[in-house]
Amino acid sequence: MSNNKEMKDFFDSCAPTWDQNEEESEKDISLFLKKYLPVYKGSKVLDIACGTGIITKKLFDLSQVDVDAIDLSSKMIDIAKKKYFNYKQLHFYNQDFVSFSNTGYDFEVMFNAYPHFIDRGKLKSTLVRTLKPNGIFAILHNCSRKDLVSCHSGVSSNISRNLLPVDEEASFYLDLFSLVMADEGLDHYCILLKKK
Ligand SMILES: C[S@@+](CC[C@H](N)C(=O)[O-])C[C@H]1O[C@@H](n2cnc3c(N)ncnc32)[C@H](O)[C@@H]1O
Repeated sequence: MSNNKEMKDFFDSCAPTWDQNEEESEKDISLFLKKYLPVYKGSKVLDIACGTGIITKKLFDLSQVDVDAIDLSSKMIDIAKKKYFNYKQLHFYNQDFVSFSNTGYDFEVMFNAYPHFIDRGKLKSTLVRTLKPNGIFAILHNCSRKDLVSCHSGVSSNISRNLLPVDEEASFYLDLFSLVMADEGLDHYCILLKKK
């Protein structure tokens, strides 16, 4: 089985109960995004690994222009499309991000999904290809690195990897990105990188 198929099957199986298992309130997620994500009105935003679209509409609220969202799992995307049927400004794509052909984003946001991108080299080159010059890649988690490790314990190394401290994780990107922010604590793990 290719890693991609294993990843897709894993998240397809999670999709039916995904929204029920979300512990944070809508309001807390909105406040978290406002605090850590400097999206401005008019920015072109991509929600990478959007799942059921937990933050996609919130990104639209911040940018006020159409938002694209992509996920490998067809079951996750089906739920997102149903939930946001009335929002023609949200565009959901069922694809692997590394073969995504849309480009020209000001912001590419990964919310609670970064540990699932096992091949960071492929991720980095896709980010460089799809972001505008000076575009921002945001890795956002509304929990600690320790929580992430415990939540992924027992999950195959083809599905998730353990994250390094923010500065070490960010250093992997610094040949092609400059560091805007790297911070972690009990309730967050966030890295913002700007394409050079
Ligand atoms: C932990 S979920 C997070 C979903 C959503 N961001 C949220 O916060 O609810 C991780 C998501 O990453 C997606 N994913 C994993 N690898 C991917 C890839 N290469 N391209 C696009 N999506 C991917 C999975 O299908 C899954 O929906």
